[in-house]
Amino acid sequence: MKKLLLDVDCGVDDAQAIMMALAAPNVQVVGITCVHGNTSVENVCKNVLRVLQACNRLEIPVFKGAAKPILGDSGISAGHFHGKDGLGDAPDCNAPGLELVQKENAVTAIIRIVNENPGEVSLAATAPLTNLALAMRMDPSLPSKLKALYIMGGNTESRGNTTVCGEFNFAADPEAAYVVLNEYHCPTYLACWEFTCHSMLSWEFCDEWLAQETSKARFMKKIFRHSYEISQTERFQKEFVAGSGFISCDSYAVAAAIDDSFIIESDYYPVSVELTGTHTRGMMIVDTVGFLKNARKVFLMKKVDLEKFKQMMMAALQ
Ligand code: BDR
Ligand code: CA
Repeated sequence: MKKLLLDVDCGVDDAQAIMMALAAPNVQVVGITCVHGNTSVENVCKNVLRVLQACNRLEIPVFKGAAKPILGDSGISAGHFHGKDGLGDAPDCNAPGLELVQKENAVTAIIRIVNENPGEVSLAATAPLTNLALAMRMDPSLPSKLKALYIMGGNTESRGNTTVCGEFNFAADPEAAYVVLNEYHCPTYLACWEFTCHSMLSWEFCDEWLAQETSKARFMKKIFRHSYEISQTERFQKEFVAGSGFISCDSYAVAAAIDDSFIIESDYYPVSVELTGTHTRGMMIVDTVGFLKNARKVFLMKKVDLEKFKQMMMAALQ
């Protein structure tokens, strides 16, 4: 069994990614750590509990982490897309209470879980990287004990979805992204924004996926309605994703963590994050020429097995 730790800011695509991980027969989800991002960290905890309840998996420990980025307050959230509560503002009177969240903080939980299982835990981060950067600062040996790190975040063609050239997770905490990209010395795989746009699925598949006769599919339909409708608008398709299709960004990072043969082709380049630019703060830099002598190299997903991806998506709701 692969041990997988998930670090999330549970919006709708995080929920999809979590459900994919829970459905994978070869994966043991050893914990879910929560961080600010799409919505407040309290909402993120509530949302993760709702997802776990929908999957009958409330035994998985949930930890609350950073409420804000490393520096100041980015003022960035994604209520317009994921709904103010992060899960499409779909009412749920049976939602589990926050008393189910562990007392231990997410950052110390990451350090503890990885140290208890050196070399065995993979981490999939689908959110601003604040928890990971703080964990690294508290325990610099942490990355060397991780099996691998999978991140949804950053961009390769300087096309932003949150600022002119900043992808949401990196723009929401550029310093944290900088620390993780520069200092996490373990095999690192990135599902960047443009890659996810190039790898979109059809709306026909999406409708088939949602039409499954299961309680998980009904749950997904409810929380997805808001962002589904936005994704169908001409403005969204023209300005953000340059095409029409279903993009479950965070699921690509989790699919790569689940299945080693999911990534068919990737680039391997040194990367970093812009911290000071007026328009470029939070943008990822990819050095294809070799100027950044000391920067760490990461795998940038380029081509993945979309048939496998569809199977994993379908299984998530079964
Ligand atoms: C990322 O931003 C968030 O809104 C999504 O959950 C995803 O992690 C995409 O840029
Ligand atoms: Ca996310």
